[in-house]
Amino acid sequence: MCGIVGVVSSNNVNEKLFNGLANLEYRGYDSVGMCFIKNKRFYIKKGVGKLEEVHKKVNFLKLNGNIGLGHCRWSTHGGVTEKNAHPHVDCKNRISVVHNGIIENYSELKEGLIKNGHKFYSQTDTEVIAHLIEDSLKDSRIEDAVRNALKRVEGSYALGILFAGQPDKLIAARNESPLVIGIGNNENFIASDVPSILSYTKKVIYLDDKEIAVLTKEHVGIFGLDGNKKNKKTQTISWSAEAAQKSGYRHFMLKEIYEQPRAIADTLDERLLNGNVVFEKEFSLADDYLTKINRIVIVACGTSWHAGLIGKFMLEELAKIPTDVEYGSEFRYRHPLLDKNTLVIAISQSGETADTIAALKEAKKHGVKTLSICNAMGSSITRMSEGVIYTRAGPEIGVASTKAFTTQLAVLYLFTILLSKIRKTLNEKQIKDMIEGIRRIPLQLQSVLDEDDEILKCAELYHHKLNSIYLGRGVNFPIALEGALKLKEVSYIHAEGYPAAEMKHGPIALIDKSMPVVFIAPHDVYTYKKVLGNIEEVKARGGIIIAVATENDKEIPKKAKHTIFIPKTLYTLSSILSVVPLQLLAYHIADKLGRDIDKPRSLAKTVTVE
Ligand code: AGP
Repeated sequence: MCGIVGVVSSNNVNEKLFNGLANLEYRGYDSVGMCFIKNKRFYIKKGVGKLEEVHKKVNFLKLNGNIGLGHCRWSTHGGVTEKNAHPHVDCKNRISVVHNGIIENYSELKEGLIKNGHKFYSQTDTEVIAHLIEDSLKDSRIEDAVRNALKRVEGSYALGILFAGQPDKLIAARNESPLVIGIGNNENFIASDVPSILSYTKKVIYLDDKEIAVLTKEHVGIFGLDGNKKNKKTQTISWSAEAAQKSGYRHFMLKEIYEQPRAIADTLDERLLNGNVVFEKEFSLADDYLTKINRIVIVACGTSWHAGLIGKFMLEELAKIPTDVEYGSEFRYRHPLLDKNTLVIAISQSGETADTIAALKEAKKHGVKTLSICNAMGSSITRMSEGVIYTRAGPEIGVASTKAFTTQLAVLYLFTILLSKIRKTLNEKQIKDMIEGIRRIPLQLQSVLDEDDEILKCAELYHHKLNSIYLGRGVNFPIALEGALKLKEVSYIHAEGYPAAEMKHGPIALIDKSMPVVFIAPHDVYTYKKVLGNIEEVKARGGIIIAVATENDKEIPKKAKHTIFIPKTLYTLSSILSVVPLQLLAYHIADKLGRDIDKPRSLAKTVTVE
């Protein structure tokens, strides 16, 4: 996955690069490196470990120069070694490259380059790019050499390239890996994401696939691989720089959990007008079309896929539209059957998840309309879809998705209201109740956060357990999956999410008196009574029951060892509330275990490889 950042400026850029890398570290933290040009020579420092660890050894801030690149690595090709850390250079140390992505034909390219006399220093796929550019350089300009080199490359890349002989020029290129250009004041930036440069500029240009950018401190030119100049729109980002800081919290994950009342309020802002749901102009799907659709297919990965599962409940129960939910990574290999009345919805926090992008591409091949529900403005998925609804969670930095998930649920709920109204599947009173229900959510979330002491107590008691089970039925089953995923990700404890009634078909054998079992059991008319029975089954086998229940529930506290209460709300909305105790439980357990919560091992925030 890797993170890249680059700056060309009239001033020393080392702090900007360092801060940029600190913000990008969620993308990869095996190793880190920086490169500057001074007196037409490269000064490179790199090492294995996280930014702070390597910085202690090499002191990145001692480097200086007005142009530089930084990289944090999530290894794909070549082990975690200093040699494999980026930047990589050509034979004559004139070209320096940082890369995020995978060069799929690197073996054959490398073979050919070696035959032509090139010497390789690392085992990475990235190094071939430096040598390919060197090969193409001869008498051509550096930007032409980059273009010619990239024509030979297959795979994905976001690249930052420096040429020692031209210390005023930074070159960037993109294909299927995210890259944004930041327009500053007498300085310009490249970065894998917007938050990493948000303290310096809010004006950005998103590169598209197979585009090259040539940056000097005063100017940015963008070209296709054919060398033709492109006119690209500069966009202004609405996120504040402070939103990407920890603001006194020990971890981003905790800050982001606590931000959820605000994030939901922002996601609703100006979208509920006079009993109607109103989306912004980029939504762009006409009522006429929305009346005609007869099927929805949701594609997503991880937590966003869980949001999709809950969306299915909303869309089927309320808008009466048959809905399938697919993993992005499986969809394109399944020969999906789609027709013109199918709407495909991609859900993604980052908008850059390779598997979801691949699924969206597959959908588009079938000529269907697509809608994205996304948190990152201008990201790839939003640019590929006909319609976009933004979640307004603000930058989510912690690898474990929290506020992005609940805002996705809020958007799915709003979209369901809109469809139900257009398609007349609910009456005015039902729509009014739904709107009132979601309006209450920010305040209700606050009261769930007030349960944190009880949740902390559970974490203190059970953080040493090696396994746990999460159970729920109906709309609470995806929440069970999400609770288990959160725990696995940040604490590394094995956790399984199951439909509560499926338990008796197998997993019940796992339950003994050492097994914590988390029930998501808010009061509802569908399954509540049955879940009480499932709780009894676990209790009879000695399982340690932690339950999420609706306030004033008298039954569950009699059966569970710990009960965490959430306020009463509508069935499909309860998921926004009931997931929060599970996020906090995972957080506190991981904290007790001393895990690296915002950067859990082997995980990256944005998974840009398929
Ligand atoms: C969530 O906690 C995960 N880190 C992960 O499952 C994530 O939701 C998934 O990779 C999808 O990301 P996206 O929403 O940015 O597409």
